[in-house]
Amino acid sequence: MTAYAVDERGIYRGRPLAVARPASTSEVAAVVRACRAHGVAIVPQGGNTGYCGGATPDDGGRQLVLSLERLDRVLDVDPVAATLTVQAGVTLSAAQQAAAARDMLFPLAMGSQDSCQIGGNLSTNAGGLAVLRYGNARDLALGLEVVLPDGRVLDELRGLRKDNTGYDLKQLFIGAEGTLGVITAATLKLYPRVTAGVTAFTAVSDPAAACSLLTRLRGRIGDNVTSFEYLTAAALALVTRAFPDLHVPVAKDSEHFVLLECSATGEEGRQGLEAALARLHEEGLLGDAVIAQDERQRRALWALRERVPAAERHLGGSVKHDISVSQGDLATFLERAADAITARWPRARLSVYGHFGDGNVHFNVLAPADADAVDFRARHAAAISDCVHAAASALGGSFSAEHGVGQLKRDLLARYTDPVALDLMRTLKRALDPDGLMNPGKVL
Ligand code: MLT
Ligand code: ZN
Repeated sequence: MTAYAVDERGIYRGRPLAVARPASTSEVAAVVRACRAHGVAIVPQGGNTGYCGGATPDDGGRQLVLSLERLDRVLDVDPVAATLTVQAGVTLSAAQQAAAARDMLFPLAMGSQDSCQIGGNLSTNAGGLAVLRYGNARDLALGLEVVLPDGRVLDELRGLRKDNTGYDLKQLFIGAEGTLGVITAATLKLYPRVTAGVTAFTAVSDPAAACSLLTRLRGRIGDNVTSFEYLTAAALALVTRAFPDLHVPVAKDSEHFVLLECSATGEEGRQGLEAALARLHEEGLLGDAVIAQDERQRRALWALRERVPAAERHLGGSVKHDISVSQGDLATFLERAADAITARWPRARLSVYGHFGDGNVHFNVLAPADADAVDFRARHAAAISDCVHAAASALGGSFSAEHGVGQLKRDLLARYTDPVALDLMRTLKRALDPDGLMNPGKVL
């Protein structure tokens, strides 16, 4: 059972009572009813790629892991309604491929897409690399099927774009991390496939310049800006050290970089996108920049960004953060958080990168180069995270922009959430799961 008992980052090592692998919604419901009858807690699990321990059982040997992996069928692709209906265990990349096979785009995208599953994406309201244009998992959900904690099936698997009939119940289960029920299937939004794209990697003078670049770019081509990722030189240096075959293609002495992607659909073509970038270059907003000329070059640029987490792991791991603030506060946050960390841990290394366009950065802290990484984290992770979260909170930001809460950040939720909101969350939890058997110890 090891694969189901340990989380992606190896922080949590659970001891499941058993692993159930149902193959249909009615089998999920039967498992839930049996567990309820016997007072057994259930830990729903998708691709097990989460960062916060949300899908890992405790070590008491009394919690059942409910794996959704055998619910892996694409149920329907409807290009007219622009919807995709899949079971929860379909991997994100399989969902993308099912859409592409019908000449459509399912736009959710992230590094773990070959393993993470739609049910987990929805349960954690996953973000990723194209949120700027298409939104989070929540924004892409039209309908859900959910097995409730009492074993009944909530069938809201509809693809209606407009439906104002009472409470929007699906929203309760999106981002609830399996604490209110088990998502078994979803109807999702599709978009026209991208017909042309421009991927550019550019040096910028500072984070504020990155913000101005984004604002101007959106002013010119609006929603055609699909990704806008920021990287510090220090984060890039980790990547080129861990993966020596990768190279930074622009001003190597810059401290700040942006990877941006613009996409056109239909007949719009590439020219308009390139013209917008050329204009920004003339205006001095786009510094030393390269534009990918083919898919191979595009992949190489994206690798510089996508491999930062792997590079950190390769070099001993980091104290990871996933904060968000309002776009206009990003530069201030970065400055304050860096000051707070370097004042107390002057030799710690910072790896800062992320989804600038969403106001979401991963402000990660690595041990000093000559320190033992595991020991450093054991001694300092809590205090480091306090500093980073305090900086985000002081600006009205969030301590978890896209990775969820799970067990890792449960206490932060209690600390940083408005008491009225927290009370409402607890009221909902009691109402739906009075026996407290759905993923106990997670989120709340
Ligand atoms: C990313 O943006 O790469 C992830 O959300 C952060 C990570 O994998 O550490
Ligand atoms: Zn991220």
